[in-house]
Amino acid sequence: MGQAIILGIETSCDETAAAIVVRDQSGNATIRSNVVRSQLDEHAAFGGVVPELAARAHVTWLDHIIAQACREAGVALDEVDAIAATAGPGLIGGVLVGLTTAKALAAALDKPLIAVNHLEAHALTARLTHQIDFPYLMLLVSGGHSQFVLVRGVGDYERWGTTIDDALGEAFDKVAKLLSLGHPGGPAVEAIAKSGDPRRFKFPRPLLREARLDFSFSGLKTAVRLQAEALAPLSNQDVADIAASFQAAVAEVVSVRAGQALDRFRAELPAEALNLVVAGGVAANRAIAAALGKVCDERGATLTVPPIALCTDNGAMVAWAGAERFALGAIDGLTFAARPRWPL
Ligand code: KG4
Ligand code: ZN
Repeated sequence: MGQAIILGIETSCDETAAAIVVRDQSGNATIRSNVVRSQLDEHAAFGGVVPELAARAHVTWLDHIIAQACREAGVALDEVDAIAATAGPGLIGGVLVGLTTAKALAAALDKPLIAVNHLEAHALTARLTHQIDFPYLMLLVSGGHSQFVLVRGVGDYERWGTTIDDALGEAFDKVAKLLSLGHPGGPAVEAIAKSGDPRRFKFPRPLLREARLDFSFSGLKTAVRLQAEALAPLSNQDVADIAASFQAAVAEVVSVRAGQALDRFRAELPAEALNLVVAGGVAANRAIAAALGKVCDERGATLTVPPIALCTDNGAMVAWAGAERFALGAIDGLTFAARPRWPL
C-alpha cells in the first residue's frame, strides 16, 4: 500500500469535526488539517449535552467543517483515497449525521467508506503521534468511557476493565455541577483544585481493595455531594478543597488501577515493551497524568499522552483509525448501520 489520503469525520457527541490525515507507505502519519467545532455554547444553558440539539448542530455545520478541513489541507475532496466516519458508539442522532454524510460522499465520489468505532479511534491515536508498536495498554478516560484495553493490533482489542457506573469525565462534570462550576466540569475542577487542600476531605476510593480492573465513581460523587451539602453555603475555599480532595481520590484510584493493569500486562506478555497510552478528555488532567507517570516510572513502563487536542474528540483520530484499517484493506459497505452501542 502506498500513500493514502484519508478524510475523517467525527459527530458522535458534541464536537463536529473533520480532518485530513496522510499515511505514507511506512506507516508514518501527517495531519494535514484537523478542524473541530465544539457545541459548548449550544448546550451551556442545559448543563450537559442535549442529543437532539447536538444532532441538529451537526447537520448545520458538518458540510462547512469538511470543506474547511479540505481547504486547510490543500486537498480536494476527490483527491482523498477513503472516507472514514465514526459509526458508533455515541449519540445516535449525531452518529447518523456523520455516517450518512460519509456514505453520500463515498457514493458520489466513488471512494471506499470506512466505518470507524469511536473507541478504536481513541485507542489508535497514540500511533498517530508517536512511534508505538503493538501490543500496548490503553487507558481511555473520557466523558462517556473509563476503561483499560489491551491493544494487540488494529481490530484486535481486549477490554480488561471498565466502569460499572459513571465514566470518569462524567464524574468530573457532575462534581463541577454540584459545586456550580459550569460545564464541561473537568477543566473547571482542575483549575479550582489548584488553590485547594487535597487532604482536607478523605473521600472514598471505590473498589480499590478489589483485584478487578474495574472502576466505580458514583459512590465517590455521592460522598462529594453529601460533603457539599453538610458545609453549605460553601465558601470559595470549601469549593477548592472539595475539588482538590475529589481529584486526589480520583488520581489515586486511577493510578493504582493502572499499576495493577501494568502488572497484568507484564505477567501475560513478559517479552513485550511495557507501554501505557492514555486517551480521552480526562487525559488533560495534570494531577492524573502525574500520578500515572509515577506509576509507570516505578515499573519501568513508558507513558504516552498524546497532545490534548488529539485526546479529546477530533476528526484526525477517526481519519487515522481509517488509515490503519485502509492499509489492511478493511473497508465497509454503504449499508453499514450506525451502532449507538459498540464495545471494542
Ligand atoms: O474525550 P472527550 O472530549 O469526550 C468524550 O466524552 O468522548 O472527554 C470530555 C470529558 C468531559 O467529561 C470533561 O469534563 C473531561 O473530559 N475533561 C477533564 C479535563 N478536561 C476535560 N477532566 C478532568 N480534568 C481535565 N482537565
Ligand atoms: Zn471520545
